[in-house]
Amino acid sequence: MNFKSIAILAALPALIAGSVYAQSSIKPAATETLRPLSDFAEIKDEKDRSVALFQEAGKVITHARCVNCHPASDRPLQGEDKHPHQPLVVRGSDGFGATGMRCTTCHGPTNVDHAHLPGHPLWHLAPIEMAWEGKKLGEICEQIKDGKRNGGKSLDQIVEHMAEDSLVGWGWQPDAGRSPAPGTQKEFGALIKAWAETGAVCPAS
Ligand code: HEC
Ligand code: HEC
Repeated sequence: MNFKSIAILAALPALIAGSVYAQSSIKPAATETLRPLSDFAEIKDEKDRSVALFQEAGKVITHARCVNCHPASDRPLQGEDKHPHQPLVVRGSDGFGATGMRCTTCHGPTNVDHAHLPGHPLWHLAPIEMAWEGKKLGEICEQIKDGKRNGGKSLDQIVEHMAEDSLVGWGWQPDAGRSPAPGTQKEFGALIKAWAETGAVCPAS
């Protein structure tokens, strides 16, 4: 270990404490809801219904809890305003950070509420081809369906991932002071399933 990495490690508690201090006055936005599936039954055209379902699910997909881990650069984002991660950390070759600055250096297997620190056993960044930051919902939709950019997942596997994956699920169980994604993961999964069953049509923009 060289001097620089020792200095970084020594500074960690201060960095973390500093971020708690900086964030302590920020209140999460009011919890948003998702419209129930029954609301969409009145849309008779199946393509239109499919698009409307994805647009509703888009409230989750474009939410900070998801986008912060699906950034357009190598650096994760933080907070409701999706600002660059402080301190500077990068994706690294496996999404778990660079050598000497791994995500797990700070992010443990569970949230640490008093430190305003998110946690999950598999806390790491989505690969660059799954970047959602700055994209229109229609573009994200096409990308999610594209096997070359979604980790080779079939549509069924995408539905399952959205509905069941526990890292996705963290979006509804963030650490204290961070607003959860709209609705529940179950409601979100139901919207995505209904979208897939109606032909998985993407919004034009
Ligand atoms: C802690 C970081 C993290 C958070 C938070 C996160 N993701 Fe991801 N996401 C990943 C990683 C890493 C992958 C790739 C590995 C995998 O497929 O499991 C991924 C992959 C995906 C994929 C599959 C590939 C694709 O098309 O992009 C979907 C869908 C997805 N995430 C949805 C979500 C949704 C919805 C949320 C918010 C409710 C969310 N993610 C929050 C890290 C995260
Ligand atoms: C040096 C410590 C440290 C390292 C290393 C670190 N983080 Fe963080 N991270 C934090 C702290 C502290 C916060 C909370 C900051 C805040 O929002 O007040 C945070 C917050 C986040 C958030 C914000 C969640 C949200 O929705 O607001 C994401 C995403 C994130 N980290 C991803 C990562 C990823 C991915 C890695 C590895 C590539 C990583 N972090 C490495 C300290 C670290």
